[in-house]
Amino acid sequence: MHRHLAVYPGSFDPITCGHLDIARRAANIFEHLIVAVAEHSGKNMLFSTDERAELVRASVADLPNVEIRTFSGLLTDFVRQTGARVIIRGLRAVSDFEYEFSMSLMNSHLAPEIETMFLPTSEGYSFISSSMIKEVYRLGGDVGDTIPPCVLQALAGKYHS
Ligand code: COA
Repeated sequence: MHRHLAVYPGSFDPITCGHLDIARRAANIFEHLIVAVAEHSGKNMLFSTDERAELVRASVADLPNVEIRTFSGLLTDFVRQTGARVIIRGLRAVSDFEYEFSMSLMNSHLAPEIETMFLPTSEGYSFISSSMIKEVYRLGGDVGDTIPPCVLQALAGKYHS
């Protein structure tokens, strides 16, 4: 069991400045943070697992205590394998609460020793979502200040190549 370790899971399709804000703040609290990119999360993904993990890796390159891993299957099984006791999730608005709360209850039913900790999303990022960014980009809107530069480049590769 590693008290200094936390896991921040998500589909990250793609990673946004909102995710990055949560990852940075969690990395300030814990000695080591694993950003866990889900291979399947029930969503229709634009980017492959490897592409999503690579974009996360490039976005957190300046954070030496952050490691990027991919996982399939149950999140709680993956977290147990790492030895972590904490799952980090960001909360943007009240609308996130119901989904996040039920997910945390199911996870603690499956693995009572693992706690979910919620970090409130910083004010400027509360309106961001990965699907909204993809839609606005596809329709020609400017999303440059809501995603890391490597993600902007990757979106251009997906939609303009
Ligand atoms: N700022 C801005 N936006 C944020 C944000 C933040 N801090 N945190 C999340 N978001 C947005 C994302 O952009 C994303 O938007 P989208 O819905 O438009 O794509 C959405 O909120 C949530 O996505 P993400 O944070 O990438 O995570 P997720 O909800 O897709 O991840 C898993 C879910 C992977 C954690 C969950 O499905 C899982 O654990 N899967 C493994 C299987 C399992 O164990 N299932 C049982 C779970 S009870």
